[in-house]
Parts: sequence; structure tokens; C-alpha cells
Amino acid sequence: MSMNYEASLAYAQELDQVDTLYSFRTRFHFPQHQGKDVIYMCGNSLGLQPRSVEYLMQQELKDWAKHGVEGHFNAANPWFSYHHIFSDRLAKLVGAKKEEVVATNTLTVNLHLLMISFYRPEGNRYKIMMEAGAFPSDQYAVETQVRMHGYDPADAIIEIAPKPGKHIIEEEDILKAIEEAGDSLALVMFGGVNYYTGQYFNLQQITAAAHKVGAYAGYDLAHAAGNIPMQLHDWDVDFACWCSYKYLNSGPGGVGGIFVHEKHCSNPEIFRLGGWWGNDEKDRFKMRKGFVPQHNAGSWQMSNAPVFNMVAHNAALDIHDKAGMKALREKSELLTGYAEFLLKQVKHLSFEIITPSDPSRRGCQLSLLFADKGREVFDALTKNGVIADWREPNVIRIAPVPLYNTFEDVYRFYEILLSVNNIDAS
Ligand SMILES: Cc1ncc(COP(=O)(O)O)c(C=O)c1O
Repeated sequence: MSMNYEASLAYAQELDQVDTLYSFRTRFHFPQHQGKDVIYMCGNSLGLQPRSVEYLMQQELKDWAKHGVEGHFNAANPWFSYHHIFSDRLAKLVGAKKEEVVATNTLTVNLHLLMISFYRPEGNRYKIMMEAGAFPSDQYAVETQVRMHGYDPADAIIEIAPKPGKHIIEEEDILKAIEEAGDSLALVMFGGVNYYTGQYFNLQQITAAAHKVGAYAGYDLAHAAGNIPMQLHDWDVDFACWCSYKYLNSGPGGVGGIFVHEKHCSNPEIFRLGGWWGNDEKDRFKMRKGFVPQHNAGSWQMSNAPVFNMVAHNAALDIHDKAGMKALREKSELLTGYAEFLLKQVKHLSFEIITPSDPSRRGCQLSLLFADKGREVFDALTKNGVIADWREPNVIRIAPVPLYNTFEDVYRFYEILLSVNNIDAS
């Protein structure tokens, strides 16, 4: 997409005027700075609170007060089946069938549960491939899964790194490494969008390459869900998990989501750890011996639904769904493109954008790698009412989120960055 962007407030405001998603901003609470909304560029870390959450939470509290245990069946959204209210929206969100998704648990827990099913090392096939520099929780999960099966992480984990001196991992290096690992590879597990660089991987190609050597392919979509449209079913992805507190605005520690391809959901040979909520729903209260998994992603649930967490998820997904992933992505490409254009005009600070410049290889996020003074710039931004996010050792991440950020936000952020010219004095 080639745009003739302009570095002016009037131009940014013009783009806002023709933005069909503009009004969605009013559905969120913005933290305040000196009596005004902050410039919130941190939706890649924690999304803002939808205004509707409070009311819906009150409703749920009232249902609990009114019904007690009978709320399981008599609440407005009965707790027994609360997780079902997400199926349609989650399926649309990640490109899945309804049966392939469920809102349950939290991200790292789900990653473990899914690896228990899909990392089943045997004989020569015991290796896991992941991106170097994955989010620590993913690294720890993979490391301990490998140890649990008695392997040495140094031998069993293959990390794919960027070429020396580069920040982005070349897709062809991933595909080549998969081919070379061949039948030693049990699982390819990547973050869909790397948290640090903002690089979005070609999940379809990686999945196909993994399958060609007989390995499973699964993804942590923490930074991709709600950010980038995906077609997990059609891409034949085996499993995926994500959190709901970033681009899905469902609150800190919000309920996670999983995808398991239908061919595995209905396969009783795929081992899963049992809990009563994963058991065949119609027999749940028969109190029989013997775990009979549901034939859908719901069989990876363990416990009864965390309803209060899910209330926020319900409110937030409603807004996201109304905006629609397609429209959000269109705006997102423009908005992040605008941020990139403006950042390239900033000459007095020593940083480079390490996120791919090709929009098909990134979502909202841009990562600015500072040669020096990164932390000082970050602190100056904070002092001036910008909430961005700092990642050691020297990266500022910003994410203009199409659901609630405006072109004016992006322009104002740029103005503040321009004014950060005497770092030592700030
Ligand atoms: C890529 C990735 N994986 C895992 C996590 C940890 O998630 P949780 O604490 O919800 O398990 C995060 C959190 O930001 C993340 O970005």
C-alpha cells in the first residue's frame, strides 16, 4: 500500500474524519494525564477497559446474589454453559470452526496443556523448534516440557535466530531448518507475532513445512489474536493459544483462548489431561468413572468457567466483533504505516525500527531499538502523557491500536518525540 502521508496535525485529523471506526474509541476508559486522555500506545501489553464491563459485572454480581448456586442454570448467561457464548466470535476471530475454539484457563497454562497433547516425543522424534528470543514464559514452558520427558533442552530445543547483525528471522531460514531437522522434529511452536520485534510469521507456510516432515505445528498467538486476521482451520494449524488482555481488551489475567483443529478434537487417540469441564457435557453430572472427552476444543477445559473473568471478555469481544477484524486490519495497516512514516522523520534520536516494514509481516506494533538513551526517551514520553512500553535491554514498543487509537494520537506521539531533544535535562 503506498500512501502519501503528511506530517501535520491537519492531515492526521483528516484521516480521523474518514475513519469509520473512529467512534469505537468512546467505548473505552482512557487513563488520564493532567486532565486529558493519555496517548495510549500500549494495547500490545494490556488493552483498555471497555466502559460496558462495569455494568455487565454488576449484572453478574446481581445474578449471583439472586440465584446462588442456581445461577449455573438460571443466570441470564447460565454459568454451566458460559464458555459457549464465545464460540462464534472466537471462531471468526482466528478463522476456525466453532467446535475448534474455547475460552478457558490462561495462556501459559493452555500452552502446557496443549503441549501435553501435541508434544509426544518418541524415538528419534523429540525436538521442538521455536524462534530465538521468544517470550520468557514460552521458553520456560518449552524447556520444562522437554525436561519432563527426560531430554536435555540444549539438545532438544532448536532455536531459529535472525542472521548475525539482523533483528528479523528470515522465513526461508525457518523453512530450511524444519526441512533439515526432518524426522527428529516433533513440534514447531512459534509465537505468531514475536513480542519483542513485532515480526509476524507466515503461519501457513511454517505449518505446511512442519507437516511435511511429520511434525505438529502450534502457535502462541498472544500478540496476534485480535491484531491480525488468521485462518487457522484452513491453514491446517494443529493448535494455538492466546491471551485476551492485549488486543482483546478483556482485563489483566483475562481468560485465555485455544484452537485445536477439528481432526484432533474428534480423535480420541490425542491424549489430553482430564477435568470435569472437558468431559462429555451431557454426562457431566452423572458422576461416572472414566473421562470421556468432548469431541471439540472444549475437551481441553479443566475446571468450571471463571465467570467473572469471562464477563469482561464478553463485553470486550462484543466491541471487537462489531468493529470486525477486516475493518480493524485495514485501519491498522494505515495507522501503523502512519506511525512508521512519522518515526522516519525523527532524526535527532538514535533508534531504528526493527519491526518489518512490510505490513504483511507485522501487526500494529512497532519496536524501536535505541543505540543509547532509550530508557531516558521512554521516561520522557511517560512524563508527557504517552503510555508506551519498555522492554529490556533497549526497546520501546508502541502499538497504535485501530480499535481506540486515532491518527491524531499517532501525530501527537510524534510531536512529543520531536520535543524530546535534551534528554539529559528531561
Ligand atoms: C508471547 C507471550 N507468551 C506468554 C505470555 C504470558 O502469558 P500469561 O501470563 O497469560 O500466561 C505473554 C504475556 O505477555 C506473551 O506475550
